[in-house]
Amino acid sequence: MEERLQKYLARCGIGSRRKCEEYIAQGLVAVDGEVITELGYKIDSGKVTVTFRGREVKAEDQVLTTVMLNKPAGYVTTSHDQFGRPHVTQLVNLPGVRLYPVGRLDYQTTGLLLLTNDGDLTYRLTHPGHRVPKVYQALIAGEITSEEIRKLEKGVVLEDGFRTSPAEVRLVSMKSGNSKIEITIYEGKNHQVRRMAKAVGHPVLRLKRIQEGGLRLGTLKEGEYRVLSEKEIRDLKREAGGYVRNER
Ligand code: URA
Repeated sequence: MEERLQKYLARCGIGSRRKCEEYIAQGLVAVDGEVITELGYKIDSGKVTVTFRGREVKAEDQVLTTVMLNKPAGYVTTSHDQFGRPHVTQLVNLPGVRLYPVGRLDYQTTGLLLLTNDGDLTYRLTHPGHRVPKVYQALIAGEITSEEIRKLEKGVVLEDGFRTSPAEVRLVSMKSGNSKIEITIYEGKNHQVRRMAKAVGHPVLRLKRIQEGGLRLGTLKEGEYRVLSEKEIRDLKREAGGYVRNER
């Protein structure tokens, strides 16, 4: 059966379909030894050999696995880090299973991070049209006012001109001149929470993700992970599906 190369790569757990499109455009993918950069390219995966960064990839070998990690500070989630810093995948030890982070958390951000080889899940959770809520606890500098909370909720203009869509913000506490807030956002621009807080004059001091969709971090300690149940994955996919705006 023929399918688009990016869809096949996503099924192999390489990343979301969009990410796989980028990899194709970057010339990192070859079919039967020939580098393919055309995005509409179709393959019959039973008849060709596909390589990513020179290594053969296969959908059949994959036991679909998804884990929830409580990411500690000091780990990167990006695939290539120019400083060679520790990578979140080093915290997950499941023999024979290669997992990839779903989306990003900053180096210093802690909390809920999913890692999976289920390309469909990654696609659903990271596609900009799928408005899956993400909840963060943020310790921010200074005492935030109700007016600033309203601004964050309505949407603020970031330093690059991007206007954030509506969010929910709850003041949890104020202590020693700083504020603790809980913020729910439905999009995932780079460093979004940090940039939003800065836009209202309160730089983030500590940031932790505590929820994605209906999935809560719960009592997992930093550095610990657990494999999600089939039901949890089904629920996540259903939720993500429910938030689709512009499904391709
Ligand atoms: N927003 C941020 O600023 N950083 C993260 O790691 C996640 C969301």
